Amino acid sequence: MGTENKSETKPYDRPSELKAFDETKSGVKGLVDSGITKVPRIFIQPQDSPDRVTTTPRNIGLSIPIIDLDGVDKDPIKYKDMVDKIRDASETWGFFQVVNHGIPESDMEEIKNGVSRFFDQDNEIRKQYYTRDATKPVVYNTNFDLFTGIAANWRDTVYCIMSPNPPKPEELPAACREIQMKYSKQIMGLGCTLFKLLSEGLGLKPNHLLDLECAEGLAMIFQYYPPCPEPELTIGAGKHSDNSFLTVLLQDQIGGLQVLHQNQWVDIPPTPGALIVNIGDFLQMMSNDKYKSIEHRVLSNHLGPRISVASFFTTGPRPSSKLYAPIQEMLSEENMPKYCAFTVKEYTDHFRTKGLNGVSPLLHFKL
Ligand code: OGA
Ligand code: NI
Repeated sequence: MGTENKSETKPYDRPSELKAFDETKSGVKGLVDSGITKVPRIFIQPQDSPDRVTTTPRNIGLSIPIIDLDGVDKDPIKYKDMVDKIRDASETWGFFQVVNHGIPESDMEEIKNGVSRFFDQDNEIRKQYYTRDATKPVVYNTNFDLFTGIAANWRDTVYCIMSPNPPKPEELPAACREIQMKYSKQIMGLGCTLFKLLSEGLGLKPNHLLDLECAEGLAMIFQYYPPCPEPELTIGAGKHSDNSFLTVLLQDQIGGLQVLHQNQWVDIPPTPGALIVNIGDFLQMMSNDKYKSIEHRVLSNHLGPRISVASFFTTGPRPSSKLYAPIQEMLSEENMPKYCAFTVKEYTDHFRTKGLNGVSPLLHFKL
């Protein structure tokens, strides 16, 4: 009998296979670089998983709104229109794209190039950043929930908290440090604009969400989805909602991002120059479910690598004592609070322990 069959007759020791994979410190990219032609079983979605790619119907006729931010600071009539469009999108889709957002396309290209350079550099240099210690300034690993998830995702990740107290430039990988510092400042600026528009959409004064410190923390995540030999068996990022106030996502031209809308998966097609914005769990909770933090996922693909840069407004796992709860000004006899108060850290810890299992961590905090 050949060696191939031997591995099939051996009992499946998942924990040790996960450990061996983690110890390579080379992630999914390392597997692909080694020339594998089959998806190892630690990545295979069980038949009954919500992330079997065929489980839910796909709607190919719909797409998320595209909102033009041109003139946001200058034209009050356009501004009012943007508030309305963003509110509608946040209530129905939880997702929209923005164009003319002020971040030059050349910088958007350069940050994706920086991610490519990080992953393409010598394995030994990349490995120096590999860790599961969330207190490190740069956390490069694969599957933050590798040991708790049902099936590993076909994805590697670099995580950095860029605000408050950004890492020293020399702590960031040389492959991307310059553009990462620049791009994170640009995203902070765009975030301020978006939080003002979103505040007004809730009938609050423009600075309400900013005063609640929604834009204090920025966690930046580089997602790297290597090409996959059997994309139907696994998934790039399993169904989840974002554990942030708000997320701004830059995706490349490969595609595969989908959002759940009326129980159907809807593609979010790559749109040159656009950034994707989505409501996170915190804004859903603070708006008492008016804005929706909607589940989304990323399919894996024969083509790749696919690169995305996700900017999460949140302080993540950093110690925090500020409690967040449904916004008082929005509550009434007819709109009683649906959630108890919690800190960003409590929520993040819960999210991390639970992993991307398709169940909203918000349910844990419902009254
Ligand atoms: C995320 C996410 C989508 C993508 O990082 O939370 O949903 O396209 N990313 O990488
Ligand atoms: Ni997400």
